[in-house]
Amino acid sequence: MIDLIEEIKDLKKAKNATLLAHYYQEGDIQELADFTGDSLKLAREATKVKTPVIVFCGVHFMAETAKMLNPEKKVLLPDLQAGCSLAESCPAEKLLRFQEMLRENGRRFQTVTYINSSAAVKALSDWVVTSGNAEEIIRRVPADQEILFVPDRHLGQYLTEITGRKMILWNGACIVHEIFSVGDLLTLKRQVPAGITVAHPECPANIREHSDFVGGTEAMLKYIGGFADQKDFLVATEANMMWQMQHKFPQHRYHPVPGITCACNKCPHMARNTLEKVRDCLMYGRPEIEWQPEFARAREVVTRSLLN
Ligand code: 13P
Ligand code: SF4
Repeated sequence: MIDLIEEIKDLKKAKNATLLAHYYQEGDIQELADFTGDSLKLAREATKVKTPVIVFCGVHFMAETAKMLNPEKKVLLPDLQAGCSLAESCPAEKLLRFQEMLRENGRRFQTVTYINSSAAVKALSDWVVTSGNAEEIIRRVPADQEILFVPDRHLGQYLTEITGRKMILWNGACIVHEIFSVGDLLTLKRQVPAGITVAHPECPANIREHSDFVGGTEAMLKYIGGFADQKDFLVATEANMMWQMQHKFPQHRYHPVPGITCACNKCPHMARNTLEKVRDCLMYGRPEIEWQPEFARAREVVTRSLLN
């Protein structure tokens, strides 16, 4: 393990690569990264990278976003199969048919798309949002237009609650956040009565309504960082997030909110990236995200939404 970590550090130098890692990666990968972050921070960091190679330790749509913002760079994803249930729930052809049907029915709308989507879906959108900027972007959509929000129905419902904007919601969900068990959360709350519950907005309403704070991963860190004295936090998001919380704010105690089927709530897609695969992609220069024709239009939408 130590050898493998040293090997990756050496290869990173030799290949002149920058390693970006999402907070849902295993702690040993986050530790090796030049930058860690939520989807918004990583998309922004990707535009500042100086090296010719980016290794994106996250899932496919994140690496794709980094590539569209850096056409001239080599963007490597340790495992090309690292997908996302939200992105899979919304194929571009299906979205296009739905948009056409709405237009034929005389509906005037803008499409607001969660970043957890393919480049082809982003290219069909007016806006791209992350958990970090969604509220702000929703407020930018003219009041005389409806909002078609894709693909996360829970995030969409949450945004309706906080902005008052009704939305047409796509029926997608995150397989990790959707399976938190409200019964087990209430049991945990009884076991840790002073515990403060933090939940990701990808969680269903029954989890959010029992939470003290709802926000994306970066917002969670900011919230937790606001408590100087030791607290107990009940965490309703992907389990690796607790590594970053522990790393930044070791004075607190963290308790995972259990899921219906398991206690750890690990994203199986994020888990595809291992140290061995990080080493191999640096060594062989693949798997690589190749430029696709739809990236050009998707890039315009992403730039307008996330970088301006
Ligand atoms: P954020 O880190 O942007 O809150 O997103 C969570 C997520 O599900 C990434 O796949
Ligand atoms: Fe997709 Fe959920 Fe995994 Fe994030 S945690 S990559 S939303 S499946």
